[in-house]
Amino acid sequence: MNNFEFKNPTKIHFGKGLINKIASEIPAHAKVLMLFGSGSIKKNGIYEQVKTALQSFEVIEFGGIPANPEYQVLLKALAVIKEEKITYLLAVGGGSVIDGTKFLASAALYEGNNPWDILEKGIRSEVGMPFGVVLTLPATGSEMNSGSVISRRETNQKLGMGGPGLFPQFSILDPQVISSIPANQIANGIVDAFTHVLEQYMTYPTGANLQDRISESIMQNLIEIAPQILNNPSDYNAQCEFMWSCTMALNGLIQKGVPTDWTVHAIGHELTVLFGIDHAQTLAIIAPSHYRYNFENKKEKLAQYATRVWNITEGTIEEKANLAIDKTEAFFHSVGIKTHLSEYTDNFKEAAPFIFDSFSKRGILKLGERQNITPSDVVKILELSY
Ligand code: NZQ
Ligand code: ZN
Repeated sequence: MNNFEFKNPTKIHFGKGLINKIASEIPAHAKVLMLFGSGSIKKNGIYEQVKTALQSFEVIEFGGIPANPEYQVLLKALAVIKEEKITYLLAVGGGSVIDGTKFLASAALYEGNNPWDILEKGIRSEVGMPFGVVLTLPATGSEMNSGSVISRRETNQKLGMGGPGLFPQFSILDPQVISSIPANQIANGIVDAFTHVLEQYMTYPTGANLQDRISESIMQNLIEIAPQILNNPSDYNAQCEFMWSCTMALNGLIQKGVPTDWTVHAIGHELTVLFGIDHAQTLAIIAPSHYRYNFENKKEKLAQYATRVWNITEGTIEEKANLAIDKTEAFFHSVGIKTHLSEYTDNFKEAAPFIFDSFSKRGILKLGERQNITPSDVVKILELSY
């Protein structure tokens, strides 16, 4: 196990009917900017619950943050924060609203002229305006981590940012919010969380057994509850298991002391930029090809995953590892997510030159836990995914 530091300051309120807890978490004299997406919270009752809880606060609303939060929209929210002298942010939404709020928390205190530099120059956010979260969609883990991914359409970019100043102060996880999520977004959440575990697990053996076993448990849990939550999104037990599995998949715990990969996400973000494919769908397209292409480097962990997660006990390391990739792909299919790029777009052949160019220009020349995946390898992975 490698040396590590671990600090996660986000306070979680998990359970039924806890949205009113925001009133006791936000400082009494705060001037609050409530941020949300394209309107789902106005149809499912979450908006009313939040407004009721915020009755005693001075609140300004900013709605319309789109999926894959867009920089130009966020700049408008930043202007509101400055004009209205906002002191506290409240994100009510899924990963996109939370990530947008994290960008604003950083940009509000940023002293440079151009907030895009935070993303393009990779400036770490040591401090941020304080913010809280009401999670409406389990998937990203953004409610309990300090990372954010922001898109900018005019320059065809989707870039990450983060730092210790960007943990939510608190997050309300009321699993009942899942009842109104459409099936395709629930499937996205399952595949995103599952792939988060894979990115932190599917590397090489390091003897970090506890991290491995926690990761395997999260994956087993997701496999078990996937059909339950898809068949009945109002099943409270399944809601709880789904929501907490997604949070645990990316709150920092399982990545401590182990190597991590993140190649699937790096390529996936580019597919979203180029074709507008949902984040989780891009992961389902890339993960199987990535593991097939980098088979030799990953076969030990693939075989361990085969045995412990998929109960594949017969065969050589290679046979088990190969079967595990097939099982993973079949799992993505079972929730209704396709795993070939050509199933999403006729222009699939544009992906390899676009991403080769994008990575080369940005100096992303080495990816993966061994830092040995080059832009030319990325082209091969993409070709396997067509
Ligand atoms: O816009 P609204 O009205 O909120 O509707 C959303 C949106 O249309 C809808 N939705 C959310 N909660 C709902 C609901 N509909 C009905 N009932 C509810 N309770 O679902 C749609 C998708 O929402 P979005 O927030 O975009 O989804 P998700 O949580 O999957 O977030 C995706 C974004 O997070 C980034 C992705 O790249 C993408 O930009 N990620 C963030 C990470 C992080 N910060 O740690 C890690 C991830 O790997 C990922 O990159
Ligand atoms: Zn993800």
